[in-house]
Amino acid sequence: MGLLAQISRLLLGPAAEIEAQAAAQRAQLLTLPAIVPIGPGTITLRRLQRGDGDAILEFARALAPHDLLFLRRDITQPDQVDDWINEIEEGYAISVGAFDAVGLAGYATVSRDHMTWTAHVAELRVLAATRMRGKGLGWLLTEQAFAIAREMGIRKMMAQMTTDQVAAVAVFKRMGFEPEAVLRNQVLDRDGRLHDLQIMSLDVDAFRAKVNLARASVESHLLET
Ligand SMILES: CC(C)(COP(=O)(O)OP(=O)(O)OC[C@H]1O[C@@H](n2cnc3c(N)ncnc32)[C@H](O)[C@@H]1OP(=O)(O)O)[C@@H](O)C(=O)NCCC(=O)NCCS
Repeated sequence: MGLLAQISRLLLGPAAEIEAQAAAQRAQLLTLPAIVPIGPGTITLRRLQRGDGDAILEFARALAPHDLLFLRRDITQPDQVDDWINEIEEGYAISVGAFDAVGLAGYATVSRDHMTWTAHVAELRVLAATRMRGKGLGWLLTEQAFAIAREMGIRKMMAQMTTDQVAAVAVFKRMGFEPEAVLRNQVLDRDGRLHDLQIMSLDVDAFRAKVNLARASVESHLLET
């Protein structure tokens, strides 16, 4: 958290955090392909498509198996990657890949349910290559995933991760997501170990109401002083 954010947090309390989350949600959807500075270099952001299968497999196989546990499918396997590409082509998922000189460095996916009753809900999934972590790529991809979901008119956004993925929890909290549920022993890894799954969510209308309330309370506080 920057110095300015810390000072406003002290002065305005939780309202400052809500305001920072609202600001984070306003990131613009980039016109793709786009070249974006990350760390000392740049990455190219573009939609993932058929033909990216080998790059995806190479990316996934270089990750710690634990980083893949929140995914619905095992993307180290070619048939599972094919299923993902099919989902993109059928319009149920939008995936933005970040490419550098090495290959695929990360991606964000916004995935929508096939069910009519949950058509207003989308799941956001973000994954960064280990070599790229801590440089702002995860945040950039999360902002873009959020902007895509907003553009699609999604009203409830979800993200899931194992409870020990502190970076993922921090990124989504900063965006305004809140913990909604923990599913105990929901994930079984390849070594037979069980993990809890954290579900985080953001209700777009409820969040907007929260922002308005926070602004009104700050205004009345300023009028009183
Ligand atoms: C979550 C993930 C995408 C973040 O990628 P990243 O490129 O390292 O993230 P960034 O460099 O953009 O950091 C964004 C913020 O995350 C937080 N963060 C990053 N690493 C962190 C860590 N190890 N511990 C705590 N917070 C951390 C920081 O708050 C940082 O904000 P800052 O810029 O104010 O410091 C990456 O860790 C990842 O792929 N994790 C495994 C997969 C996963 O769990 N995905 C989420 C499920 S949707």
